[in-house]
Amino acid sequence: ENLFKGAVGALCLYEKPGVNGAKVVIPVSILKDGTIKRIQNLGTHKDDVIVASFPKAGTTWVQEIVYLLQTNLDFSKASEKVLETRSPFLEYPYPGLDFVEKMNGPRVLKTHLPFDFLPATSGNGKIIYVTRNPKDVAVSYYHFAKMFTPLSFAGSFYEFLEKFEKNELPYGPFFDHVESYVRHKEDANLLIVTYEELSKDPADVIKKIATFLGKHLDEEDILKIVNHTSFESMTKNAAVNYEHWDDLGFRNKSEAKFMRKGKIGDWRNFIAPDRNETFDQWIADGNKIKFPFVYEI
Ligand code: A3P
Repeated sequence: ENLFKGAVGALCLYEKPGVNGAKVVIPVSILKDGTIKRIQNLGTHKDDVIVASFPKAGTTWVQEIVYLLQTNLDFSKASEKVLETRSPFLEYPYPGLDFVEKMNGPRVLKTHLPFDFLPATSGNGKIIYVTRNPKDVAVSYYHFAKMFTPLSFAGSFYEFLEKFEKNELPYGPFFDHVESYVRHKEDANLLIVTYEELSKDPADVIKKIATFLGKHLDEEDILKIVNHTSFESMTKNAAVNYEHWDDLGFRNKSEAKFMRKGKIGDWRNFIAPDRNETFDQWIADGNKIKFPFVYEI
């Protein structure tokens, strides 16, 4: 049974021929309209930054940090428009690829596609991959899938978790996704950050991102970014909290908000110990390569 009742609920496993056997589950709608091809052919510039992630890994958080760094801390510009237009999501119809092509640099772009699906010219710019422990991703994704009307997931959390394990969710398989980036960890234009390290020491990770982007900030500026991008601030900030989706009809209003909990380890409230054992086994089986980080939980 298709438990996704929304308009983009029709999903399929798309294999990109010839590139490391790359595969990804994507909505049929974006496959059919040629979006993937257009993304691959997108011209990329030296000052572009692509923030890439599996959904719910902390994309929005890192996008806002990168946006501030790339605008040399233009907090007023950051509050003028919603993040969706300041940092467009490549495979999403709004604001769309025509808009992306006309944007003035430096562009901060977002994608949930695996590495092998990025623009062929992405090596011109920089890429930041955000990842998060899969248990919290599953919990966050479940709430999002119920909340976001185009998905409108209608099952229970364990039904969702099973889909996660069977690689049936948009942008799965999870470990293939992570591995596609980790394989490039030595590339000079790729930085990998985890939600967990960002939560534990935001100043340190923001410094790391700043250095990667060639920005030299003093402690006071770092602190300003830490404060602006704390969960508490972002929850209240209409330019990043996606509350405009309420008016656009993208949120099932009885469900959780986009800025839901912002914590490490919320999975403990959803995955019982016996179910956790089988999930741990799934992680052990799927996590075939040694990641250069641990998902601390
Ligand atoms: P939860 O559902 O666990 O709260 P993405 O941006 O990739 O869709 O990820 C969304 C997840 O990141 C949500 O997780 C959201 O609350 C969390 N998040 C967003 N901004 C955050 C911030 N500034 N600090 C901590 N968590 C944040």
